[in-house]
Amino acid sequence: MSRACGFDFGTSNTSIAHWAGNGPRLIELQEGRTSIPTALFFAFDDGATHFGRDAIKYYLLRDEGRLMRALKSLLGSPLFEETTYIRAKKVDFSDIIALFIRHVRETAGGADHVVMGRPAYFVDDDAQADARAQAQLQEAARKAGFTHIEFQLEPIAAALDYEQSVTKEELALVIDIGGGTSDFSLVRVSPERARKADRKSDILACAGVHVGGTDFDRLLSVATVMPYLGLNSRLKTKNMNPPSWYYQDLATWQRINFLYDGKVTTEIKGVRRDSAEPEKIDRLLRVIELRLGHALLGQIEDTKIALSTQLKAALASAAFDDGKVLDVTRAQFEKAVSAAMARVAAKVRDTIALAGLKADAVETVFVTGGSAAIPMLRRMISQELPGARIIEGDAFGSVATGLAIEAHRRFGR
Ligand SMILES: Nc1ncnc2c1ncn2[C@@H]1O[C@H](COP(=O)(O)OP(=O)(O)OP(=O)(O)O)[C@@H](O)[C@H]1O
Ligand SMILES: [Mg+2]
Repeated sequence: MSRACGFDFGTSNTSIAHWAGNGPRLIELQEGRTSIPTALFFAFDDGATHFGRDAIKYYLLRDEGRLMRALKSLLGSPLFEETTYIRAKKVDFSDIIALFIRHVRETAGGADHVVMGRPAYFVDDDAQADARAQAQLQEAARKAGFTHIEFQLEPIAAALDYEQSVTKEELALVIDIGGGTSDFSLVRVSPERARKADRKSDILACAGVHVGGTDFDRLLSVATVMPYLGLNSRLKTKNMNPPSWYYQDLATWQRINFLYDGKVTTEIKGVRRDSAEPEKIDRLLRVIELRLGHALLGQIEDTKIALSTQLKAALASAAFDDGKVLDVTRAQFEKAVSAAMARVAAKVRDTIALAGLKADAVETVFVTGGSAAIPMLRRMISQELPGARIIEGDAFGSVATGLAIEAHRRFGR
């Protein structure tokens, strides 16, 4: 089969869409859903590899194995070059990403032409690393069976999706706040312009910053849960605390597995002997020994999501040996993420300034991405663009839909 598709390989979720007759259509991938978690689980007992929701399910069933999430965040980073051991075999991250892309590609019918999305910046302030990230993703897509691979910026793809519904010309600011990055484009959209082959002159600005939902998870974890596992706790050695990197890694999706190295456990046991609050270090050791890291961070993510609609949420976890329930408030969340949010707000202003415009020139704000549901972000958008009307995109489908429009434009059918 030779069919083109649009592929949104997201930090948290992945979707794929193709051109069906007269328009783009998202493809069902699992349980009737068109978006699946970007996750793999390598089961140790039967050697099976599970993807998406299944990956998380098998991990939570506590089968022996290895869960991998937020792989996109490794692209362009030094960690990408490292190999990891799975079932006593050395594998590299490129092959792991390729395995995931191949699974999605084949589930969706096996297209060989693809327009893949990419954020404005895979890596902030490092053009070389950013170019490396795209090349790594391209290589993985090739290993996954795609023969023709092109890229389009995710916030431009989202703009193409929005453009399908506009009835007159407008200047739209597209805001896509996902799991790994916040991406922006300032685009002139209209039904007539939508038919043009070359849209360069309609794209007034494009920008992004490496802040997204996985950062909010990390910051919330470090502010609320990690102290309970010994972050900043006292050692008997005067004025010393346990190394903070254990806690940063445990709060960072793509780094959790690095803690499961036996050497780290030995080291932490040493820290425990010197601890003035050993019950806290015991909790950290328990999480590592029982491989509860992803489950714990998942519960923190659930708490974050609950705080988008509630002012308070209860966080209970198997990681807490004492049945402790932490009450987390929206105010705590907002405090924990305020510096990160400020960076997102600054990038919104930068995007508009990059086009040489003022905020009041923007008529419409089109928002998409899972993190766009966060009330603090909504407030920020209304503050930055008080005159614009805000349109809600398909949080988990806009980018793939726009990429399918682009794939149709570039490759035809
Ligand atoms: N209601 C909600 N409130 C807050 N955050 C949410 C909500 N729903 C989803 N999220 C967060 O949105 C993020 C996923 O969004 P999305 O699927 O758009 O990202 P992605 O496309 O995978 O990432 P990226 O585009 O950055 O590579 C996750 O961090 C998730 O926790
Ligand atoms: Mg995305």
